[in-house]
Amino acid sequence: MKPIIKWAGGKRWLLPILEKIFEPHQGIKLVEPFIGGMAVALGLNPESALLNDVNVHLINFYKQVKKGLKIPYQFKNNADFYYEMRDKFNTLISNNKYRNAEAASIFYFLIRTGYNGLCRFNSQGEFNVPFGQHRSIKYKTDFFEYKEILKNWNLMQGDFQNLELQGNEFLYADPPYDVEFTEYYAKGFTWDDQLRLAKWLSEHKGPVVASNQATKRILELYQDLKFKIFIVSAPRKIACNGDRQPALEMLALKGFKTNFMKDIRDKIKL
Ligand SMILES: C[S@@+](CC[C@H](N)C(=O)[O-])C[C@H]1O[C@@H](n2cnc3c(N)ncnc32)[C@H](O)[C@@H]1O
Repeated sequence: MKPIIKWAGGKRWLLPILEKIFEPHQGIKLVEPFIGGMAVALGLNPESALLNDVNVHLINFYKQVKKGLKIPYQFKNNADFYYEMRDKFNTLISNNKYRNAEAASIFYFLIRTGYNGLCRFNSQGEFNVPFGQHRSIKYKTDFFEYKEILKNWNLMQGDFQNLELQGNEFLYADPPYDVEFTEYYAKGFTWDDQLRLAKWLSEHKGPVVASNQATKRILELYQDLKFKIFIVSAPRKIACNGDRQPALEMLALKGFKTNFMKDIRDKIKL
């Protein structure tokens, strides 16, 4: 199924590869510590899953969808209405009343209608994304088709390291991208967090797949931790010597059976 909402860094494009890797592990619980737009879980459709994200509003939205969220508003794609809804959402946040269906409905509207589908907060914790000026938007009024799928999946909110794992789960980790040569960590995920994550993943006994921007230091980090590394071209483009070239994405694998790894390159057709 398609993601419920558009989310920065969505990995729907990686699904053909991830499906091949996950296929022989269908019966195993899927764990995604960075669920974002849920593109991967919805694409792989595992029997059981543990899906986590640090973003409280995103997880509240999914929890409400699981409970059968119905939108109580007539949404309008216009700037005045958008800013009215944004104020309402920020009032819910400041009154600590944001873990409910109303906040989830407004969150859905803001992500659909705001600039570039971004989810961004200022230092006071207020949602501050401007109006998106999309030409037209089809708003959903319920999410019943997702309710059934989410029934067997657990949702958690918090830092990835708080997840309590058995050790045999299939782990797919898609953290915010590493951005080299910058002190600006817009998504609040620092290089120390990347180190902490790689170490945490390397200690998991079951199968692990990690994706990230293929920066030199990320490749070295995962190589040093004995992951098998693959590089794939992402659909997004980056500026390179005045040209725009496909960004390179790393896929790092570990914890798979030797037989499976032997001809993995053929299996995933890289
Ligand atoms: C690249 S996105 C994941 C995209 C997802 N794979 C998809 O297809 O939509 C990364 C996610 O990590 C979350 N995140 C950032 N820091 C985190 C942390 N310390 N623990 C858990 N999640 C975190 C962000 O909120 C964001 O949703």
